[in-house]
Amino acid sequence: ALRASFVSKSQSPSQRASVNPQIQASFKVAVLGAAGGIGQPLSLLIKMSPLVSSLHLYDIANVKGVAADLSHCNTPSQVLDFTGQSELGNALKGVDVVVIPAGVPRKPGMTRDDLFNINASIVKNLVEAVADNCPNAFIHIISNPVNSTVPIAAEVLQQKGVYDPKKLFGVTTLDVVRANTFVAQKKNLRLIDVDVPVIGGHAGITILPILSKTKPSVSFSDEEVQELTVRIQNAGTEVVEAKAGAGSATLSMAYAAARFVESSLRALDGDSDVYECAFVQSELTELPYFASRIKLGKNGVEAVIQSDLQGLTEYEQKALEALKPELKASIEKGIAFAQKQP
Ligand code: NAI
Repeated sequence: ALRASFVSKSQSPSQRASVNPQIQASFKVAVLGAAGGIGQPLSLLIKMSPLVSSLHLYDIANVKGVAADLSHCNTPSQVLDFTGQSELGNALKGVDVVVIPAGVPRKPGMTRDDLFNINASIVKNLVEAVADNCPNAFIHIISNPVNSTVPIAAEVLQQKGVYDPKKLFGVTTLDVVRANTFVAQKKNLRLIDVDVPVIGGHAGITILPILSKTKPSVSFSDEEVQELTVRIQNAGTEVVEAKAGAGSATLSMAYAAARFVESSLRALDGDSDVYECAFVQSELTELPYFASRIKLGKNGVEAVIQSDLQGLTEYEQKALEALKPELKASIEKGIAFAQKQP
């Protein structure tokens, strides 16, 4: 495990293989909020990645035990724990990917926007530290409301003069994971084959699965489209209600976030065939941020896939227009928050 960290990332995979065929890569990943409901299983899944040499776990509480526990897994990465504001900088130094699931989750009856007051400040504070300590890292924002916390992060990075729009992502992978699962169930498809692009944002009606672009190609009745779209949009609430006050999705979220981390690491490692949906700065629509499929490369977003928005069905086109005012308001709320803070 220690040897892995001596291998330069700038080497191509074949060069690395000639050094030691066991070593696949050596990326450093930090999880901020690592002791939480998402943070713990997410850290476990990242600990299993052969692409990670060092896993930095940061939280304001309880992170020492999580790190000690995970460090006993005999997978390559070294696990380090950091706690409290004074250790935040060290948690971030030299890190390639920062994942942020810090913040409070929903309880029954709450919308993601109800979390704004608490989580906005948490994300602002953490992203300031990212800007100061690892401004070139990929930043994955999980903390809700993602529709607002991503614009907050962008503003903070701009204020610090280090904003790279290609490297800031709102994590919407769970919406895709849910869409794939529900569509495969409904249409009796092999799960592994199914891929549904989900665009827009990450809250309620701003989550828009583009069922007409499902792979493999499959046709849906109007009722199926309505039922599946609403279920995908409300799937988070389904979990919040089932947990009845004990929080929101954590395990499926950890699974989804780990997939997005792994995709990012593969892209950083030179894989030229990596596509994911994410909420990013975008020119696809008139809104400044928008979730869509993107191609990931070494420098982050390499391309925004436009074809998912072309040839939409009437239902999808209407839903797209209907989501824009809400998404716009959430984006503006985030920007206003970041700009009014000293
Ligand atoms: P949780 O309450 O179980 O864990 C949050 C963790 O963040 C706690 O360990 C807490 O100590 C830590 N924390 C709080 N303030 C912090 C700070 N300033 N610095 C570092 N750590 C801090 O919550 P859970 O269930 O893990 O959810 C976390 C966030 O993820 C919530 O905002 C939730 O809404 C969001 N979420 C996002 C999803 C998505 O699809 N993007 C899906 C599910 C949840």
